[in-house]
Amino acid sequence: MTALATAATALNKNGYLDLEVDPSLDLVAEIQRLKKEKNAVILAHYYQESEIQDVADYIGDSLGLSQQAAKTEADIIVFAGVHFMAETAKILSPHKKVLLPDLKAGCSLADSCPAPLFRKFKEKYPDHVVVSYINCTAELKTLTDICCTSTNAVHVINSIPEDQKIIFAPDINLGRYLVKKTGRDMVLWNGSCMVHEIFSAEKIAKLRARYPKALFIAHPECETHILDQADFIGSTTGLLKFTIASEATEFIVATEAGILHQMEKSSPHKTFIPAPPENNCACNECPHMKRNTMEKLYLCMQYELPEIELPQRIIEEGRLCIDRMLDVSAKAGLVG
Ligand code: 13P
Ligand code: SF4
Repeated sequence: MTALATAATALNKNGYLDLEVDPSLDLVAEIQRLKKEKNAVILAHYYQESEIQDVADYIGDSLGLSQQAAKTEADIIVFAGVHFMAETAKILSPHKKVLLPDLKAGCSLADSCPAPLFRKFKEKYPDHVVVSYINCTAELKTLTDICCTSTNAVHVINSIPEDQKIIFAPDINLGRYLVKKTGRDMVLWNGSCMVHEIFSAEKIAKLRARYPKALFIAHPECETHILDQADFIGSTTGLLKFTIASEATEFIVATEAGILHQMEKSSPHKTFIPAPPENNCACNECPHMKRNTMEKLYLCMQYELPEIELPQRIIEEGRLCIDRMLDVSAKAGLVG
């Protein structure tokens, strides 16, 4: 058996092609070559490691990445992000090959809402429509009326008639933020993101005392007591745009630390301080996002594996809620 055949056989267990990469290889040049040769596009989320962001064709938040996946003319979409994002790209471009460097790049938020449990929960509220944060499985999307991302969530909720009851899943923190922001009383699923739940309000307060001119900015997946302290709340793209437009020069940032790379690149004269977690861990880095590496990205492009495959039923039923979300975003002129 060749090394490739062995690695391909082990894909199910490892989630990625476990092949040795020559350490002297110029991975950036190789990845650029493969992009051209295969007419492939690399879509990367802001939480990817800096080197991956730098080699990507497009870097964005969940809305921007979906918009790009829907309109790309490339033959292959290489998704440098997590599984639910690559699934969304496959649903939007079912005839294209969608690759994910590591199939085990999951998401604690998506995992916190298993579709069979949610189906039972939904049965208790037959007169409610379901709004799901895009950070959920493709199967959950088939049980959803309209999706949202953190960029368009307020617009999506406001697009629903006022007398229509709503279930919001899976992120309880974003749900609570939206209840406050829109005044709508929604039934919330109790899910959360492991990265956005670790920030320490006490340590942030201390940091603010040390940097009195710094603005504190936060992602709406953070808990309410953290958001209550924030000068600005927004999606990753929203936070990035805010730091570019703001006259402030110091920012304490409560979201995954990967976003700091683009913030520093866009505003090299400004200072960005990652908000501190409860303990001294590096848990403001998403372990799922960080499963992707340059080596895995290169191998996945070279051998066109691992590939995202979805049953036709999931593609057809999962697409409706994403299309509705993209419509609301287009009407509101939102880009991620
Ligand atoms: P956005 O980039 O859409 O703000 O989402 C954040 C996130 O947690 C993605 O996994
Ligand atoms: Fe999921 Fe949170 Fe990681 Fe985003 S940061 S992929 S929501 S676990």
